[in-house]
Amino acid sequence: AGALRGVVALDGPSGTGKTTVARKLAQRLSAGYLDTGAMYRVITLAVLRAGVDPADAAAVTAVAKDTEFSVGTDPERPSVALGAEDVSAAIRGNDINHAVSPVSAVPAVRELLVARQRRIIDEVLAVVGGIVVEGRDIGTVVAPDAPLKVFLTASPEVRAARRSAQDTAAGRESSQADARASVDRRDRLDSSRAASPLRPAEDAVHLDTSELEIDQVIVALRELADHRGLLD
Ligand code: DC
Repeated sequence: AGALRGVVALDGPSGTGKTTVARKLAQRLSAGYLDTGAMYRVITLAVLRAGVDPADAAAVTAVAKDTEFSVGTDPERPSVALGAEDVSAAIRGNDINHAVSPVSAVPAVRELLVARQRRIIDEVLAVVGGIVVEGRDIGTVVAPDAPLKVFLTASPEVRAARRSAQDTAAGRESSQADARASVDRRDRLDSSRAASPLRPAEDAVHLDTSELEIDQVIVALRELADHRGLLD
C-alpha cells in the first residue's frame, strides 16, 4: 500500500535538498526516480572530454547528438553511464558544475534531453506505475500534466551550506564562500536563460526547506500526494 501512481514533478534550484528528497520519496512510495540534472551533466562531461567550448552551441549540439549515455531509474541505486563507463562521480565535479549551465542553455540540447526524459517517464509509468522526476523544468515543460508539482526553495545561505557539506562529504575541496558564489552564479544563469528558464509552474506547490530536515520534507510531500489521491 502507499505506492505512487503517476508523476511527481520536483523542481527548484540546487541546494534545496531536491536530489536527496526525490530519491527518498521515490523509495518510500515504491516509485521510479529520474534525475534530469544528471542528463545535462553527462552531456557536459562529454563536451569537456571532446575539448569543445561549452559556449559553442553548434559544437555542443553535435556532441549531444553523438553521446551515448544511460541513466538508471531505480532510487535504490541511481547510476549514470557514458557509453559503458560509470560516471556517477565524475559528473559531480567542479568542472562540470561550472560548464553545465551554458550546455543546458542550448535549445537543441534541451529538445534532445526533454524527448528522452519523456520516453523514460513513459517506460517507468508503464512498468512501475509511478515516478518522481527532479529538475528545473519538469512541471513547466517535461511533464506539464503531472498531477503533483512541487517547487522547492531555500535561502541562499542554507543552499550554499548544503552544497559545501555535500562537496566535503564527497571528498571535494570546498569553502562556504566558494559554494555561495557557485550557487549564486548557477541560479543567475539557469533563471535568465531564454530556453526553459528555472521558474515554478503556475500550479506548483511551493515548499521552503530552509528550516526543514529531509524527513520532514518527505512527510510533507507524501501527504500532498495522498491528498491528491495519488497513493494506492
Ligand atoms: O540539479 P543539478 O544541479 O544536477 O543540475 C545541473 C544543471 O543542469 C543545472 O545547472 C541546470 C541544468 N538543468 C536543467 O537545465 N534542466 C533540468 N531539468 C535539470 C537540470
